[in-house]
Amino acid sequence: MIELSNISKEVLEAGTRIPILNRINLSIHRGEFVSIMGPSGSGKSSLMNILGSLDVPTSGDYLFEGTNIQRLGGKQLADFRNQRLGFVFQSFMLIPRLSVKDNVEVPLLYSTYNKKERKRRIKEALEQVGMIHKAKEPIINLSGGQKQKIAIARAIINDPDLLLIDEPSGNLDAASKEEVLEIFLSLNDRGKTIVLVTHDQEVARIGKRILILKNGEWFKPEKGEQ
Ligand SMILES: Nc1ncnc2c1ncn2[C@@H]1O[C@H](COP(=O)(O)OP(=O)(O)O)[C@@H](O)[C@H]1O
Ligand SMILES: [Mg+2]
Repeated sequence: MIELSNISKEVLEAGTRIPILNRINLSIHRGEFVSIMGPSGSGKSSLMNILGSLDVPTSGDYLFEGTNIQRLGGKQLADFRNQRLGFVFQSFMLIPRLSVKDNVEVPLLYSTYNKKERKRRIKEALEQVGMIHKAKEPIINLSGGQKQKIAIARAIINDPDLLLIDEPSGNLDAASKEEVLEIFLSLNDRGKTIVLVTHDQEVARIGKRILILKNGEWFKPEKGEQ
């Protein structure tokens, strides 16, 4: 599904080139659940932004089902993100004063579905995260764990192929964290491909494959070293 080859990212700061990712290779098959771990500042979010086509690498290639993502134009790229990808962030990125259902509907605003189909999708997405009873509640009335579930419902509303999840539990208490991780596992069981980045070992462990990023490069622990 995904093939990253020699992906590097540099940023310019006061005329100096700062390396953030260094020749990253990564293959992900459809249906996989990959966790990427690494300390703060190791480049996890930068890599996610490239996978999400929210940022472009300085060099290297990103193929998604054989399509070179860097060659897509603005409209094609927007459609790719909207139809094929779902995003979940630490900070939820919800619209506080809107209701749960209006937040979940946001990715459908660009679609041609009729009202009935929208309603069906909103209901199904909210049921999958166990939040249908909060459909009419404004976001500001929800706890952190509830907000993250709504963010997940929004991420799956277009039935994306790939879920990109960045530090999902950073703002959650232990019980909500457990519930949110269960939702990710059930989505993966239903066939969603997942890439999850976290600095939290407990969270990373739910992935079926765990990779470690350090200083913008893959890190291979020696035997006995963690
Ligand atoms: N646009 C940018 N300009 C300058 N430095 C950046 C930029 N984006 C990321 N960085 C730096 O790159 C490193 C990796 O950042 P990030 O990908 O956010 O790491 P992580 O998500 O693993 O904490 C950090 O040192 C960060 O400060
Ligand atoms: Mg990060």
